[in-house]
Amino acid sequence: MKIIGTGSSSPSLTVSNDMLATFLDTSDEWIQTRTGIKTRQVISTERLEDLAAQACSIAIHEAGIKAEDLDYIICSNTLNEYVTPALSCILQGMLGADCPCIDLNGACAGFIYALDMADALFERGNMEHILVVCAEEPTRMVDWTKRDTCVLFGDGAGAVVLGKGEGFKSFKLSTFSNTEALYQIRKLQDTPFIKREETEGNDALVMKGQDVFKLAVNCSLNDIKDVLKLAGVKADEIDHYLLHQANMRILDTIMRYLGQSEKNFPHNIERYGNTSSASIPMLLDELNKNNKLKTGQKLVFSAFGAGFTTGACLLEWTM
Ligand code: ACO
Repeated sequence: MKIIGTGSSSPSLTVSNDMLATFLDTSDEWIQTRTGIKTRQVISTERLEDLAAQACSIAIHEAGIKAEDLDYIICSNTLNEYVTPALSCILQGMLGADCPCIDLNGACAGFIYALDMADALFERGNMEHILVVCAEEPTRMVDWTKRDTCVLFGDGAGAVVLGKGEGFKSFKLSTFSNTEALYQIRKLQDTPFIKREETEGNDALVMKGQDVFKLAVNCSLNDIKDVLKLAGVKADEIDHYLLHQANMRILDTIMRYLGQSEKNFPHNIERYGNTSSASIPMLLDELNKNNKLKTGQKLVFSAFGAGFTTGACLLEWTM
């Protein structure tokens, strides 16, 4: 398969570090030094499905197809207002598509997992176009009185339309079950058979930042080395490494281990924060729209998130 269209969308409200410091014991200096984040876009008046539909429409338009031409929609999403139906089903109606739809929850690595699923669907032989959309609102998962998590996130959506082709060269996915380092427990309805105390507890995102940091660096490095090896490509031959935008220090550490420079490691975390699985397709769309991607260039995507899920893939830019 190959990418034939990209799109992205983010909420209109820009929240600066100084704005956060008006209600949290934090500072612009702390946040920028520890994370690289200066501002993030935060959902206020929008709904996530509107952002997702906009990102999809842009990608579909660029691909030169109509929503009716889609054979499958895969939506990567961790949390949205609907438990059911799936966000992909809502998007199908908004876009006017009529294909099968499914959501997957691979946390921040969801884009790579969705691409891998799409690749397998293309192998089946009866698909022409698959839409992968990542739509996330992590700012509605965090406790806004907890400075260690809420400063890290932003909201947004990124999408790609995939067509038949030879763009993708290698994939590597891994999962290591870990419910300690990064998790969120959803409160369910009470029943006559479950006492209230048993369902009580913190229902916001919990993260052991330093554990996640180490896991992220190790897993991403291993995944990148594996996709390079599988494709028979050297680290220096990659034009753009697009990593999950979780923390600028994570990106810097991986960049140094691979012996690469900042010109190969594009980033927009300073303007968007961590938008979970949407971060790579949003960055990809930004590079694409700014004409930074040239036909034949080699790209690596690498992401990591709760689960612990990690994944990478290597592709040649064909647009
Ligand atoms: N402002 C000011 N001080 C803060 C803040 C804040 N926003 N947050 C934490 N601190 C304080 C802590 O309370 C602590 O104070 P103490 O020493 O008095 O106890 C001090 O800063 C240091 O805290 P650490 O947790 O050690 O800080 P660290 O340098 O590890 O940075 C961070 C924290 C930014 C969360 C870092 O660990 C990190 O980025 N980890 C990876 C997180 C990540 O990538 N998550 C996403 C991956 S998966 C996903 O995308 C869902």
